[in-house]
Amino acid sequence: MRKQIAAANWKMNLTYQQGEQLLDDILNAKIALKDHQLTIFAVPFPYLIMANSEITDEKNYFIAAQNCYSKKSGAYTGEVSVEMLKSIGIKYCVLGHSERREYFSESNQLLAEKINICLSLDIIPIFCCGEPLAIREAGTQNSFVETQLKESLFHLSSEQLTQIIIAYEPIWAIGTGKTASTEQAQEIHAYLRSVLAKQYGKATADSISILYGGSVKSNNAKELFGCPDVDGGLVGGASLIANDFIQIIKALK
Ligand code: 13P
Repeated sequence: MRKQIAAANWKMNLTYQQGEQLLDDILNAKIALKDHQLTIFAVPFPYLIMANSEITDEKNYFIAAQNCYSKKSGAYTGEVSVEMLKSIGIKYCVLGHSERREYFSESNQLLAEKINICLSLDIIPIFCCGEPLAIREAGTQNSFVETQLKESLFHLSSEQLTQIIIAYEPIWAIGTGKTASTEQAQEIHAYLRSVLAKQYGKATADSISILYGGSVKSNNAKELFGCPDVDGGLVGGASLIANDFIQIIKALK
């Protein structure tokens, strides 16, 4: 079975102390993850070491960075390299979140570079894609997300592609309380998988986890994760509340 993943994206929220408390509260729930289930916390840079030490003894719990820079090292004041993440034991990195695309002008081409540098150091990218409302209203969401995949991922070998996690996050559903229906989620996840299958073959496409993000809550997670092509979620707001995120982890297939 493909990996089923509950990923928390804290974004720019919580103090260090609040973050530590939240992790404690979630881990104290002692949810035993099955071999094919993962929980990943994408936390702000200053909390990575603390968060990683919290989960060291927990099976299938991991910490992710929310971003990294595209260059190996050098005079890039304020940026964080993949080598830095690797040197503190981080194994995952969120890339191409719509907030980074929108507020920090991250292009598909820049993201291809970030993907490459992550893979070169064995950091697993959680690659985000998803369309804005106007594209959904025009009904052209499939070709929009297909272009995002093509321009950022299709230079990879099939072996490299299997290292990646994809998160489909329709921008109109992020932080709005408006969730894609299970039909909408399943339809576009299946489409994304078919695009991967066309380029890389069915076996490779079937092995890749595609998470859904956008107003995943404790009361809709089970239904969304129940869709055959939805392999868990990337969760913003509800990941900041221990009991809500605990329910979301428990909703994994
Ligand atoms: P919300 O769950 O708050 O809608 O955020 C989704 C998201 O952007 C996760 O990366």
